[in-house]
Amino acid sequence: MTKTKLFSELRLRDVVLKNRIVASPMWQYKGLDGHPTDWHLMNLGRLADGGSGLVFQEGTTVSRSGRGTVGDLGIWDDEMIPEYARITALVRANGAVPGIQLMHAGRKGRVMSASDGGGSITADHGIAGWDEWDVVAPSAVAHAGLPVPRALSRSEILSLVDEWIAAARRADAAGYDVLDIHGAHGYLIHQFLSEASNIRTDDYGGSPENRARFLVEIIEGVRSAWPASKPLLLRLSVVDGAGWEIEDSIKLVSRLAPLGVDLIDCSAGGMVGPSLAASIYGYQVHLAEAIRRATRMATSAVGLIVHAQQAEDILQRGRADLVFLARELMYNPNWPIDAAQKLGDEKGFSVANHRTGYFLGRRATVMPDLCSSTFYRATEV
Ligand SMILES: Cc1cc2nc3c(=O)[nH]c(=O)nc-3n(C[C@H](O)[C@H](O)[C@H](O)COP(=O)(O)O)c2cc1C
Repeated sequence: MTKTKLFSELRLRDVVLKNRIVASPMWQYKGLDGHPTDWHLMNLGRLADGGSGLVFQEGTTVSRSGRGTVGDLGIWDDEMIPEYARITALVRANGAVPGIQLMHAGRKGRVMSASDGGGSITADHGIAGWDEWDVVAPSAVAHAGLPVPRALSRSEILSLVDEWIAAARRADAAGYDVLDIHGAHGYLIHQFLSEASNIRTDDYGGSPENRARFLVEIIEGVRSAWPASKPLLLRLSVVDGAGWEIEDSIKLVSRLAPLGVDLIDCSAGGMVGPSLAASIYGYQVHLAEAIRRATRMATSAVGLIVHAQQAEDILQRGRADLVFLARELMYNPNWPIDAAQKLGDEKGFSVANHRTGYFLGRRATVMPDLCSSTFYRATEV
């Protein structure tokens, strides 16, 4: 039995994660006009039960028009707080810390989800209210294959910052303990950062400082509304394939550190083409490592982290402080329980919540070689 890094605690402000495994935000496309349903309770609940230390709710929009697609979740109304409080209570009761990602899709809004064919929503889709869905961006520059968005006015930008602040306040009231600002994947914040989508000539465009202004205002506003005891994360496309490079991210992160961001959630892409193109194990880990080394900020790595030993190695080598998993946890929400077994971590089945851990421990005692097909053939009756 060993003590692994993967199952060691991490403290961020006053929040203690029981291990370094994070369920990465994953849209479910199952919201009803932004409201969560029993699906979200089930999905996030099973991720918590599976042993992840921190379970993120999918990208949840700060305003109705900020949705990417019809099934996205939103947190734009106080009435939604009790609905989300059910989710945070369930996640917490199953041993994980509940986290929320806040977002606005900007020019990538009003689309069909990829699993429903993708593309911009039109009258042909028969979706009520689609024509009132205002698609906005820093500039009237379209994302490939999508319609030209409406450029935001200055006063609209200020109102949007207020919407982020109000959403953070609601997230706190609903019981989330960690907040991740979605500044990646070609969505609104990223659209401001990138010269490919931001051609404004006012003080929200032009120089890197100006293009970062929207993000800085959101961080300052959210940090003032989000309790000092709770950590604030920022997801960035550290490289985006459209001109934004690691050096740009390093400069940006160095400016943001004093504003109270606690960890950079390092992703990539989304400005041109899909964000999920890569097919190499740990294809984004070097980004988390580069940001961590250059800025001394805590980072997380995400992207095809599949094997328990792979995750352990990332942490052992100081390449990141947390590992985020998405599709692997979708495949097996009990990945953390399995990882503890594979690594021989001393916590064993106690990485799961109490009752699940108890019964899995009993199962292992009764049939120690349970997973071996040789054993099955030898003992079949
Ligand atoms: C179904 C699905 C939904 C996703 N939704 C989000 C999301 O809401 N916010 C986000 O930042 N990334 C989202 N992602 C990206 C993941 O969080 C993750 O960064 C990416 O899938 C790479 O990790 P993986 O290789 O472990 O899947 C989504 C990915 C998938 C597969």
